[in-house]
Amino acid sequence: MTHSAAASTHAAAPGTWNLGDLTVGRIGLGAMRLPGEGQADRDRAIAVLRRAVELGVDHIDTASFYFSAAHSANELINSALSPYPADLLIATKVGPGRDPSGDWYSASPGQLRGQVEENLRQLGRDHFDLVYLRRMSQPSISEHFGVLAELREAGLIRHLGVSNVDLAQLAEAQAIAPVVAVQNRFNLEVRVHDDVLGACAEQGIAFVPFYAIAGEAREQGYPARAELALDATVREVAAAHGASEAQIRLAWTMHQGPNMLAIPGTRRVEHLEENLAAGAIALGGDELAALEQASRREIYGTEIPETENPGSGAVA
Ligand SMILES: NC(=O)c1ccc[n+]([C@@H]2O[C@H](COP(=O)([O-])OP(=O)(O)OC[C@H]3O[C@@H](n4cnc5c(N)ncnc54)[C@H](OP(=O)(O)O)[C@@H]3O)[C@@H](O)[C@H]2O)c1
Repeated sequence: MTHSAAASTHAAAPGTWNLGDLTVGRIGLGAMRLPGEGQADRDRAIAVLRRAVELGVDHIDTASFYFSAAHSANELINSALSPYPADLLIATKVGPGRDPSGDWYSASPGQLRGQVEENLRQLGRDHFDLVYLRRMSQPSISEHFGVLAELREAGLIRHLGVSNVDLAQLAEAQAIAPVVAVQNRFNLEVRVHDDVLGACAEQGIAFVPFYAIAGEAREQGYPARAELALDATVREVAAAHGASEAQIRLAWTMHQGPNMLAIPGTRRVEHLEENLAAGAIALGGDELAALEQASRREIYGTEIPETENPGSGAVA
């Protein structure tokens, strides 16, 4: 593959996206990685949050179940940023929960209001701009989503999202109340939600990918995983742009559509700055096609003909 001046480049110009009546920048910050153990981790997390807002980040993704023995993401956000800038959107997720010892549980519909209120208390806010129902293993989300729709009606939540859903579950939620965002796992190695992404693009719903950088390493973090065949392509594209592989992974995500809202997670200011800069990387048509082929080869073990390559046409 060569990266000679591409015939066309597709600027991922970060830009903005409307979540209902609220506008956010397309690169936000995921808070899952923030809670560490000691004072140094706490200081680092607070520095990341403050620098993020200083650099214009206005969308932070959190949850009350992001905590370590020493710190919780919500408390760190509150300490670092309150009183909050007027335009800062903090989104949370309910459904999963962790008891004080850290053990996971799946909330019953009757427990969801308590989870929303717990998040509000920890953050020191009186309502949420965006709350996702994060599906655990239940095949139907109607009952749970119905409770969040009631909280929306009551003014505790402005907009609703769903997470870890397939097309049928998204439709189930939409039959109850409007959905402004879907948060699903999506990266070069995981494309099981391509159909959900397509539906979101068609309907003007934000798609918020998680593990966009970490890939299949998930909680272990990037790059704590075995070398993949697709890494060679990512490296080649990164070299052509003088960028890091993490930046190219993120930039590729942003190029999948204007409704892609990234929430990369990091505990380092340098990585935060790199991730925000990735929004300015314009990938060429040949680079998008090469990444698409590498992704497909990695996942399906096969190449796809150029004419059927959605990656070459899916521009931001
Ligand atoms: N809905 C759900 O079920 C769900 C599940 C998981 C996560 N989430 C949300 O999605 C957000 C993003 O997920 P994530 O934080 O797990 O994964 P991610 O953003 O894909 O990647 C984070 C990992 O990549 C590293 N990293 C970040 N920027 C980097 C850079 N520029 N160069 C090199 N390494 C870099 C981080 O380590 P460093 O700290 O060293 O930078 C960390 O190991 C979470 O924070 C959370 O808000 C949602």
